[in-house]
Amino acid sequence: MAIERTLAILKPDCVRKNLQGEVIARIQKAGFTVLGMKMVRLSPTAAGAFYAVHKGRPFYDSLVEFMCSGPVVPIALEKENAVADYRTLIGSTDPKDAAPGTIRKDFADNKGENCVHGSDSAENGKIEVAFFFSEKEIAENRRG
Ligand code: RTP
Ligand code: MG
Repeated sequence: MAIERTLAILKPDCVRKNLQGEVIARIQKAGFTVLGMKMVRLSPTAAGAFYAVHKGRPFYDSLVEFMCSGPVVPIALEKENAVADYRTLIGSTDPKDAAPGTIRKDFADNKGENCVHGSDSAENGKIEVAFFFSEKEIAENRRG
């Protein structure tokens, strides 16, 4: 299996509930390497651009508003099969449908406020990591 990158974001509900540590611990225990991590407040323009693929969908405006409602924690991750393995770890979009033991099942409130983001393909993993982290930052972090 190929080494992939995926972008996690701890969403505003996760940060408001002080769950950053618990969620990051689950990610690290699952074997992901953290290439970068920061806490940022997204502007409506930045959140809209990040979720541009959903523009026009009924939930787009509320998604953008929610993602700007408090700080978020983007985390650049790397691992073999990272995209699929991370999505297995977080569970389905709606916590009602998420498997037991997944991050969304245990920590998310509803389909909109669902604790974490995850990239949906290896291609988007690269694009989304680059949205928040430069290759220079990642190279500096790798040097330890
Ligand atoms: P994400 O992109 O955040 O990792 O979530 P996902 O792939 O599981 O779900 P996606 O279909 O890409 O939707 C992006 C985010 O939009 C919000 N959403 N709300 N109320 C709704 O029907 C609805 N549908 C989607 C969620 O925050 C979802 O994670
Ligand atoms: Mg998605």
